Amino acid sequence: MLSLPKIVTIIEVGPRDGLQNEKNEVPTEVKLQFIEKLQLAGVEEMELTSFVSPKWIPQMKDAEEIVARTKKIGRQFVLTPNAKGVELAKKATASSFAVFVGVSDTFNQKNINKTTEESMHELRPIVEKLLTEGHFVRACISTSFYCPYEGAIAPAKTIELCRKFVSWGVQELSVADTIGMANPLECFMLFESLKKEFPNTLITAHFHDTRKMGLANILAALQAGVDRFDTSAGGLGGCPFAPGATGNVATEDVVNMLKQMSIDTNINLESLIQAVDIVAPYMSRPIDTGMYKLSKCK
Ligand code: HMG
Ligand code: MG
Repeated sequence: MLSLPKIVTIIEVGPRDGLQNEKNEVPTEVKLQFIEKLQLAGVEEMELTSFVSPKWIPQMKDAEEIVARTKKIGRQFVLTPNAKGVELAKKATASSFAVFVGVSDTFNQKNINKTTEESMHELRPIVEKLLTEGHFVRACISTSFYCPYEGAIAPAKTIELCRKFVSWGVQELSVADTIGMANPLECFMLFESLKKEFPNTLITAHFHDTRKMGLANILAALQAGVDRFDTSAGGLGGCPFAPGATGNVATEDVVNMLKQMSIDTNINLESLIQAVDIVAPYMSRPIDTGMYKLSKCK
């Protein structure tokens, strides 16, 4: 007998993960309209942008303006890799922070220019200070299953990294299949272990849909007790330092699947599609998610 949650929280990552790897420059005004429409569709948690080096990720160079001009509805995360990012994000009045690190050293080196251990050493005082100040902190764990450079990652290594973040007191772990290689069995097993070991920490699954196993992995994670998912409107996304990876599993396809299963997300599908309409003309590739294409057939 399937045991599934009645309510699921969607953390929309389209404005951040979705746009960080986009070849075209998306105007700030378009990003702001996209975010506003997502909020109107019912999205209450969102990754808005990243305070990272504009030399590394030029698409996020308008982070300050994005935060300053976004309505403070629900929980809006900004990604911050280091103290400078946190300082800039605080100046822009951000209050929910996402720190990120890869289980794989090689990936972390390519993404943040540090080994995993160096990143953890740097992040610890930053995270502890944010928490003391009353901010919300999520830790995004990249390459939790597979790494584009190192191959399969032992679940014990991922769990060990999660354990460190939990010992620092982070409220949430977002555990990522960065290159979309994990299968439903692997997802069930890792998320079941994480839910058991960290019952007082929010556990979120972040799936990229490279091999089209995103929805199957979500069903597997749901059965392991996960009720929070990072998804991206239009299936946009990908990390510039994870070659071959495509976008995140699409919000509209996840919301639809859950709705069909009588699981509530509080997100209006029609408004969500309208949000995708706002960014679609600026994307370098067509939007090919199931529900988006279906909406154009009517
Ligand atoms: P670095 O070159 O080693 O840093 O980069 P540095 O400290 O030597 O500084 C170099 C320059 O960057 C300096 O400026 C700094 O001031 C500036 P310059 O003197 O040359 O003019 N700088 C910054 N500027 C703005 N904001 C900052 C910042 N820090 C330094 N925070 C660094 C190190 C971490 C900055 C760089 O590697 C970087 O920005 N990396 C970001 C990578 C990234 O954003 N990746 C994508 C997000 S993670 C992801 O997508 C995975 C996820 O979705 C989960 C999954 O799917 O796996 C979350
Ligand atoms: Mg990602």
